[in-house]
Amino acid sequence: MIKKLMAANWKMYKTWEEARQTARELVVAIGHDLPSDREVLLIPPFTALQGVGEMLAGQGGYFLGGQNFYPEAEGAFTGEISPGQLTDAGCRFALVGHSERRHVLGEKDELLARKVAFGLENKLGIILCIGEKIDERKNGLVEEVLTRQLEKGLGSIDRNVSAKDLSIAYEPVWAIGTGETADNEDIAEAHLLIRKKLKDLTDQGEQIRILYGGSVKPDNCAGIIGLDNVDGVLVGGASLKADSFSQIVLA
Ligand code: 13P
Repeated sequence: MIKKLMAANWKMYKTWEEARQTARELVVAIGHDLPSDREVLLIPPFTALQGVGEMLAGQGGYFLGGQNFYPEAEGAFTGEISPGQLTDAGCRFALVGHSERRHVLGEKDELLARKVAFGLENKLGIILCIGEKIDERKNGLVEEVLTRQLEKGLGSIDRNVSAKDLSIAYEPVWAIGTGETADNEDIAEAHLLIRKKLKDLTDQGEQIRILYGGSVKPDNCAGIIGLDNVDGVLVGGASLKADSFSQIVLA
């Protein structure tokens, strides 16, 4: 059974104590109700990883993730963090190629491909984020953009990568933090396209989780999570409060 992955990306929000408190409140709010077919992933800022990890200790079904890393084991890379440092801090997964890394920080497909391959080699599960910009959608380029981002991003990995270690997050750039969600038909279409491509590129493409992200909220989550080929969600704004994220996790 593929478990749905309900992921919270806290971006550059929350101090150590705020992050711990939200994690604590979330675990309490969900209580024993976490369905056996769902997993929760919290992705706080680096400074709060250890503190949030303490709150999740001993809680089955909860995982910790990093927002980014650099594809080297160690070295003179001021300001960067390695996969080994993330796993040392308790991370099971890390995001690669979030739209803010691509479009605000200028990361290119070639660097992202190195990150995907190096993270996997270093025992870090990878969530590769892809998604089109609004002008690309308007110009009918969704398939072309998603295909390029997948082919390049996964271009340096083994075909036999385990589905436990790799997920894709489809986050249309225009739906992130805007309150605008792609409609369910568009989500289903994009996820089907991604599924087909994953089956071309990997042996376990049928099982690799495909998450949707972009203005997921308590009131639209149930509809999204029930679509074919949607194996989880990646949530920004609505994950910052335990109350709304617990509703999403249980939707
Ligand atoms: P919002 O849920 O705030 O739109 O953010 C989505 C996102 O970027 C998750 O990674």
